Amino acid sequence: MKELIIEGKNGKSRILTGECIENLENYFPGKNVIFITDENVKRLYPGVFENKPVIVTGTGEKIKTLDTVSMIYEKLLEARADRSFFIVGVGGGIVCDIAGFAASTYMRGLRFGLVPTTLLAQADAGIGGKNGVNFMGYKNLVGLFSQPGVIICANGFLRTLPGKEVLCGMGELVKYAVLSGEKMFTFLRDNYEKLLNLEDEAVDHIVMESLLIKSEIVNRDERESGERMKLNLGHTTAHAIEKIDSTISHGEAVAAGLKMAAIISYQQGKTGIDTCQKIFDLVDRLGIKDISGLSASSIKDAMLHDKKRDGDFINYVMISDIGNTEIVRTGIGTLHRWIDSAIPLLNKNRIE
Ligand SMILES: NC(=O)c1ccc[n+]([C@@H]2O[C@H](COP(=O)([O-])OP(=O)(O)OC[C@H]3O[C@@H](n4cnc5c(N)ncnc54)[C@H](O)[C@@H]3O)[C@@H](O)[C@H]2O)c1
Repeated sequence: MKELIIEGKNGKSRILTGECIENLENYFPGKNVIFITDENVKRLYPGVFENKPVIVTGTGEKIKTLDTVSMIYEKLLEARADRSFFIVGVGGGIVCDIAGFAASTYMRGLRFGLVPTTLLAQADAGIGGKNGVNFMGYKNLVGLFSQPGVIICANGFLRTLPGKEVLCGMGELVKYAVLSGEKMFTFLRDNYEKLLNLEDEAVDHIVMESLLIKSEIVNRDERESGERMKLNLGHTTAHAIEKIDSTISHGEAVAAGLKMAAIISYQQGKTGIDTCQKIFDLVDRLGIKDISGLSASSIKDAMLHDKKRDGDFINYVMISDIGNTEIVRTGIGTLHRWIDSAIPLLNKNRIE
């Protein structure tokens, strides 16, 4: 088991990886603990919730709404939860985001912890202190920054994860590998079969690498005023794609967003063709579904309310090299022109 600490202005998070499911209850003793999970995780892991108060949500992005948060507030009221209570979100990124948001806003904030149960949530969504819900189709439009007290990653959960969800996590892992550098990128490329088979050692290693790079960035810039924007690599396009087609998973959209960032960075002279090719090769090697048939106009429309937008400007993350990215503040019109030139190549899954 390994431990990592994030010291944020909004509190300290203790992160544990390589823990066992059986040990979870040692971390959340006492009667004032309420679990939040989704119906899949509740069904697959009944033992985790045995004899414990639990609030169960539905599944999918469609339930990541204020209605679900409202249902959670009602259940907390029914349970007479007050500020002495501790909330534990057990589930994928959706449960982590909703549980964090509900806990941080109910009575102006209860203490909470997270037990991420998908690869994506362990490597990414569970940490960093961002939480929230979708609103009118816009991803994560409503939310806040608030650090969970503890985050526990147990790889026992990943054994039941459907292949599609494993690939979803891989999309974010490629992003972290591009941000981190050659060491993590090469590990991901050389060990992708072990990772796809969820071999403990390889998964523990890559989850920790991903948490290290994310926590380094978050520690330096918790509220996304500068360097943390780098974590949005690939996400400007990814969020637009998810808005256009809800059947596309977050990981698939992120993988397409990374290819888009690679093409734009190459076309705008920020990176060489080799770096671009490496990113395409890794995404394709992992077997993440290719997205084609995208229209530049629908991407541009869907980006209209991007949270990262600053008036007529947006901070777009360009790739200079593996391990070297740059936040470029650009006019929306310019970004639109970049998208126009990049989309035909993305649709053909080619660099030039
Ligand atoms: N807060 C952040 O920093 C951050 C970062 C990245 C992504 N996110 C958010 O995370 C969400 C995506 O997370 P996700 O990919 O984990 O999706 P998810 O939460 O929808 O989980 C995917 C599916 O797997 C099921 N599941 C969960 N654990 C399981 C297990 N152990 N075995 C079998 N099935 C299991 C869930 O019920 C769900 O059907 C998005 O809403 C995204 O915006 C947040």
